[in-house]
Amino acid sequence: MEKLSGIEACVFDAYGTLFDFNTAAAGARDELGADWQKLSDLWRLKQLQYTWLRGLAGHHAEFWQVTGDALDFALAQLKIERPGLRERLMQLYLQLGTYPEVPAMLRELRGRGMKLAILSNGSPPMLAAVVRNAGLEGIFDAVLSVEEVGVFKPHPSVYQLAARHLQLAAERICFLSSNGWDAYSAKAFGFRVLWCNRFGQTPERIPATPDGEIANLAILPVLLARA
Ligand code: LAC
Repeated sequence: MEKLSGIEACVFDAYGTLFDFNTAAAGARDELGADWQKLSDLWRLKQLQYTWLRGLAGHHAEFWQVTGDALDFALAQLKIERPGLRERLMQLYLQLGTYPEVPAMLRELRGRGMKLAILSNGSPPMLAAVVRNAGLEGIFDAVLSVEEVGVFKPHPSVYQLAARHLQLAAERICFLSSNGWDAYSAKAFGFRVLWCNRFGQTPERIPATPDGEIANLAILPVLLARA
């Protein structure tokens, strides 16, 4: 893949890109048993669907509410009923682990003077909790939540928020997401985009196509040529 030049900031999606949402259900494996992965998949699927549905219908609610609603759906569909389990899983969602390459990759970019930001559906308290828990406080120039614009991704006003906050033209920003729909939509907005396709997803059929695809974030520092 060709290197990206002229990049002054990297903006990361949070869930699935920096933070491993599977670690919530995996953390309750003692109660969930073999169902933990099924629950995790359905929880995530419904969480994203609810963001899109709420966006289309104009029924915005904070990601904490949407995440809880999606968990309730997943538990009901899988017929899992255990006292205290819902609360336990929601607390675990505030303590998600990072993907293994993330801390060193962020430190390397930061050491080079690259601006770093998170741009996420997560509400400010949710994002503050995962960042703190991962020991990444102070590494980001900005932790930006859609709550500032009141609508979920992929509404263009969300991507605009990052450009505005960083005071950079969109083409100076490299956006990274493991979610194909997020990566494509960020590209349609005008960012340079690397799709961190951790889950081997099939290419999307929506506007527009990311500049490149990587399997995880370890290679990111190599791909950003010095301006
Ligand atoms: C986020 C979701 C989309 O962090 O992963 O915004």
